[in-house]
Amino acid sequence: MENVSYTRRHVLTTAGVVAGSLALPFIASAQSPIVIKFSHVVAPNTPKGASADFFAKRAAELTNGRVKVEVYPNSQLYKDKEELEALQIGSVQMLAPSLAKFGPLGVKEFEVFDLPYIFPDKAALRKVTDGPIGAKLMAKLEPKGFKGLAYWDNGFKIMTANKPVKLPGDMKGMKLRIQSSKVLEAQMRALGAIPQVMAFSEVYQALQTGVVDGTENTPSNVFTQKTHEVQAYGALTDHGYIGYAVIVNSKFWNGLPPDIRTALETAMKEATERNNQISQKDNDDAVAGMKASGKINLYTLTANDKKAWIAKFKPVQKEMASRVGAGLIEEINQAVGSK
Ligand code: LMR
Repeated sequence: MENVSYTRRHVLTTAGVVAGSLALPFIASAQSPIVIKFSHVVAPNTPKGASADFFAKRAAELTNGRVKVEVYPNSQLYKDKEELEALQIGSVQMLAPSLAKFGPLGVKEFEVFDLPYIFPDKAALRKVTDGPIGAKLMAKLEPKGFKGLAYWDNGFKIMTANKPVKLPGDMKGMKLRIQSSKVLEAQMRALGAIPQVMAFSEVYQALQTGVVDGTENTPSNVFTQKTHEVQAYGALTDHGYIGYAVIVNSKFWNGLPPDIRTALETAMKEATERNNQISQKDNDDAVAGMKASGKINLYTLTANDKKAWIAKFKPVQKEMASRVGAGLIEEINQAVGSK
């Protein structure tokens, strides 16, 4: 009985709200903000997590509360693959997946960012993301129903493992977790390791239980996921880059009132500038934090060690040319001054 009367009351209340909002459409829309659900997989205290929160704050301020960005961190709503599907069907409106995660969607060119040692530093990377190559890549998302708003940095990756790692040969035979990128698969195979694609939210447990022996990620992700508590060793290889494309559902975005869209573009511009300023420090702090924890032994490469890693990974560019595009690799190498 309790349930029946609750249901009836609920139906009546809902009907009342619907009738009321039909009678007073302008008041109703003025009162209820436009909600943007922004889902992501990392911790709030990472470059992406902090930038999503900052964007939410500025979006509310610049629209005088007409937009409410709800940020859902830590795969609370969706894991890696599911979040892209959720954006396509409109269950969420905004995401910032890593550039390594667009392959399964059919936009495999983004995997060019995963090529080991393709960017000598952040300045070189910026030339690519902020120039015509970055714009051309974002345009490839449009047929998928996505609009790319910005590139956000995380940083360069380190290797972690359950055995000491100094040189590429040390990772031979290990099972290593990777993101869903064929380039990353080729990169790990170049080490003689066994790559295993896995959602970010499952990595800690997989390492803890020995399902995989090691992984790669940025220091900020390793530290905030407490990976360093279940991996005794690591090497500061800086061998690859993790960054994000902030994307929205195009239909949702194009349907926004123009003044709201302009305000959100400003909020995004500010969030992007701030993100790309804080990301390096976040990663440096994470390395310091892990060292101070005494839980992981992080090896710093000598110049000769680094040469060995670069040499080991060199064939991956050629091997992956047919996947990401030989022309694109060439364009990037030229933009960053490697050729
Ligand atoms: C990962 O899956 O390792 C990263 O892409 C997570 C992230 O979003 O930084």
